[in-house]
Amino acid sequence: MTRMVIDPNRKLSRISREIYGHFSEHLGRCIYEGIYVGKDSSIENVNGMRSDVVEALKRIRVPVLRWPGGCFADEYHWMDGIGPVDARKKMINTNWGGVVEDNSFGTHEYFELCRQLGCETYINGNLGSGTIREMSEWIEYMTFDGVSPMSELRKKNGHSDPWRVDFFGIGNENWGCGGNMNPDYYANEYRRYQTFVRDYNSKQHIQRICCGAPHEDYDWTKEVLATCFRRTSEEQHGFMDGLSLHYYVYPEGIEIKGSSTEFDEKSWYKTLNKAVYMDELIRRHGAIMDEYDPEKKIGMIVDEWGTWYTCEPGTNPGFLYQQNTMRDALVAGITLNIFNKHSDRVKMANLAQIVNVLQAVILTEGEKMIKTPTYHVFDIYKYHQDAELVESSIETKQIGEEEEWQVPNLTESVSVAPDGTIHLTMTNLSIGESYDIETTIVDRNITSVKGEIITEEMHAMNTFDMPDHVTVEAFDGTWITEKGIRFTIPACSVLHLELR
Ligand code: AHR
Repeated sequence: MTRMVIDPNRKLSRISREIYGHFSEHLGRCIYEGIYVGKDSSIENVNGMRSDVVEALKRIRVPVLRWPGGCFADEYHWMDGIGPVDARKKMINTNWGGVVEDNSFGTHEYFELCRQLGCETYINGNLGSGTIREMSEWIEYMTFDGVSPMSELRKKNGHSDPWRVDFFGIGNENWGCGGNMNPDYYANEYRRYQTFVRDYNSKQHIQRICCGAPHEDYDWTKEVLATCFRRTSEEQHGFMDGLSLHYYVYPEGIEIKGSSTEFDEKSWYKTLNKAVYMDELIRRHGAIMDEYDPEKKIGMIVDEWGTWYTCEPGTNPGFLYQQNTMRDALVAGITLNIFNKHSDRVKMANLAQIVNVLQAVILTEGEKMIKTPTYHVFDIYKYHQDAELVESSIETKQIGEEEEWQVPNLTESVSVAPDGTIHLTMTNLSIGESYDIETTIVDRNITSVKGEIITEEMHAMNTFDMPDHVTVEAFDGTWITEKGIRFTIPACSVLHLELR
């Protein structure tokens, strides 16, 4: 019997809904085909956005969408993507397959997509190859409500009211594709560029995101904070509202990443071990942030995370298209539990990427669309959005044949919604073993339990021929006990229980 304790009265931090955010880049078939098909497409759409995809994304309550990149962001010149579509400049997407980017999806289309999704906006600006003037004019174009060259241009292009920019990234991966800068150089550039990201509307502060480290590059975090952190009074914003972190799970390594569908037991545990590593990264980067910002006013923004495999055979290697199995469902469930547990510091996270790229929640093929196992995890975890993280702990043991790649058998996180409902999410990382869980719930009489589960054998996936092979099923194997609840979590599963 495995013991777990939940104390719903010990509220630890609010789980920002933005932790359940997504990322859409001009990369492969993410934007074009995956989301945007154009008004004249035979695929059902509203103002060019696929209706099936928008509807599916609304169900998981996408809270925020990052755009236009990624590496693409530091080569993107926003003025090429406004005005009459036929007159827009065409460019080469040098990062992703060298294909022609026709700029038919630009600023106006992005805001229309966010309007349809009902989500917040997170735009990534171009520091790598763009000018300060270009960046500041983009902000003016999007958010200024008075008379100015850029607001007049926006009106001429058909949008009289300004939009709301919630988050603005100042460069992306500037240690790599965003300009190969060293931390000192970037940090000084960041200070300059962020100065001109003006809050034209004093009631709508644009949260500025500084480019953070890749994986365990703790020196980047140290050096960037040393230059860019500014202590401020309550009313003033310092130089940054968030510092990003990018972390991908490459099962076999960055060079030969490994197949998304053909893997053995060893690779299963190795992949999950690398997902669990997110916890250490947050702790260690977080400890550096604590030295400057012990009150945790600056958010850690994990704006790229997920699995990265060798792309599917026969697809363009520059398009990063991969399948998604129960292994990805476990990576998502483990990672989201980690983010919840660190919600005092992690204020946003964006899965890479939303459709047809890397660990996508949706895959499309012509007019067909499927929801991946990862989609279903976001569906059953959505109740954590904006809820209060509460104290919980569970007994675990290390599993997996190879010591180096062992993982805890179980992970969990628990939140309480404003109406008092308790939401518990749990992952069972074992391929073959189920566990009996005896849960004590401190000072609370549980009267009803509803459960839902994603469970299948480890290679299970959804295909265009079998779109619902992996899906969410009702879980009714829970008993209410004197102390709390009891249940058995099956092997290889992601579970959500709702306790009242
Ligand atoms: O998500 C794919 C790419 O991964 C992004 O463009 C880049 O920021 C990262 O290296």
